[in-house]
Amino acid sequence: SVNHYTYDPGFMSTASCESKITYIDGDKGILLYRGYPIEQLAEHSEYLEVCYLLLNGELPNAEQKKKYEDIIHNHTMVHEQMKSFLNGFRRDAHPMAVMCGFVGAFSAFYHDSLDINNATHREIASNRLVSKMPTIAAMAYKYSVGQPIIYPDNKLDYAANFLHMMFSTPCEKTEVNPILAKAMDKIFILHADHEQNASTSTVRLAGSTGANPFACIASGIAALWGPAHGGANEAVLSMLEEIGDVKNIEKFLAKAKDKNDPFKLMGFGHRVYKNFDPRAKVLKKACDEVLNELGINDPQLELAMKLEEIARNDPYFVERNLYPNVDFYSGIILKAIGIPTSMFTVIFAISRTVGWIAHWKEMLSEPYKISRPRQLYTGHTERDYIPVNLRK
Ligand code: SDX
Repeated sequence: SVNHYTYDPGFMSTASCESKITYIDGDKGILLYRGYPIEQLAEHSEYLEVCYLLLNGELPNAEQKKKYEDIIHNHTMVHEQMKSFLNGFRRDAHPMAVMCGFVGAFSAFYHDSLDINNATHREIASNRLVSKMPTIAAMAYKYSVGQPIIYPDNKLDYAANFLHMMFSTPCEKTEVNPILAKAMDKIFILHADHEQNASTSTVRLAGSTGANPFACIASGIAALWGPAHGGANEAVLSMLEEIGDVKNIEKFLAKAKDKNDPFKLMGFGHRVYKNFDPRAKVLKKACDEVLNELGINDPQLELAMKLEEIARNDPYFVERNLYPNVDFYSGIILKAIGIPTSMFTVIFAISRTVGWIAHWKEMLSEPYKISRPRQLYTGHTERDYIPVNLRK
């Protein structure tokens, strides 16, 4: 059974209250989506099936699964006018800036006819976001490399369609390698939800004001972008590149331990996990499998594994229960799939959109109040105004 914590509802804001969606035990390294262990879902399920589970609370039967997949596959295109919206960005804009803008702009394209108090309308918004996130992500990438947008191919499954939109060109349609599509789908599953982390709490807080779902998800994308959160996967690869060689590991560990140095070991540590992040374990195994299947000998994987081995035996990290988190190995797989580092956090956003929506829907499906976290005031006590000519 799951521990039920009691707290004073008057203090807790709606944004961070009870939920039935995801359970984490940080001490034991347990992560359950609607009661199912992440290890089993990563091994046996597919991302769209996990989306259905997170959104509806149960795994779909064959008929429900097919119906949901058809809905998502048949809504992958975005309003044609969004291409001109894209042209407003500089070519070198970070793709996460484009994603924030794009999803916020969905409010103008897809929200006017939606009533968030209507469960069917919430379902429509949910389906639009899950189906269109890969399309706008690939559009952001194509725009950044100066290539034409590639339309979705609805005969492909979710992950393969994304890789098609990323890497095909009008001159040559990419034959998506099934190994890469399976690895991509596994990454989507592993990042889909994680209880009430910073970006999910942002979405719940925005949703508690009655803001439309697209604006709420755009706020989640903005929060995820930070290097302490979803931006860490991109930062891990930059860190490994900077370390360069095993002989430099000790120097970087010293920097990570130096309180006067802002450097942190990216991909290590977690607000909740004080044991191995179960997603990191699955990703570490997947790294080996994908690189072996592809015949890639990536020195950065060896470097990452050596870094993990040394850090896990260093008293500073052991005393503080600092373990690799989801971001430590994900970048190595994404690199093997051919995803550029600038798109790593975008991949996280594509995947986590369903978790954000599940929490948004869960909050709106019950009576809710606007979130209004209180503070502990530590400023001045009341004092009288001083005219400027009397001030020192
Ligand atoms: C994600 O919340 C979620 O669920 C998020 C997420 C999700 O799925 O949504 O899991 C995704 O955001 C994973 C985290 C990705 N971020 C990184 O990998 C960035 C590097 N990690 C650190 O910035 C850090 O570990 C945090 C931000 C993740 C957590 O920071 P905290 O809350 O300060 O961690 P802590 O309280 O456990 O720290 C204890 C000590 C502190 O030192 P002391 O004050 O005790 O001397 O450990 C130190 C910290 O300074 N520490 C680190 C460290 N992480 C914590 N020291 C060096 N390198 C690190 N990575």
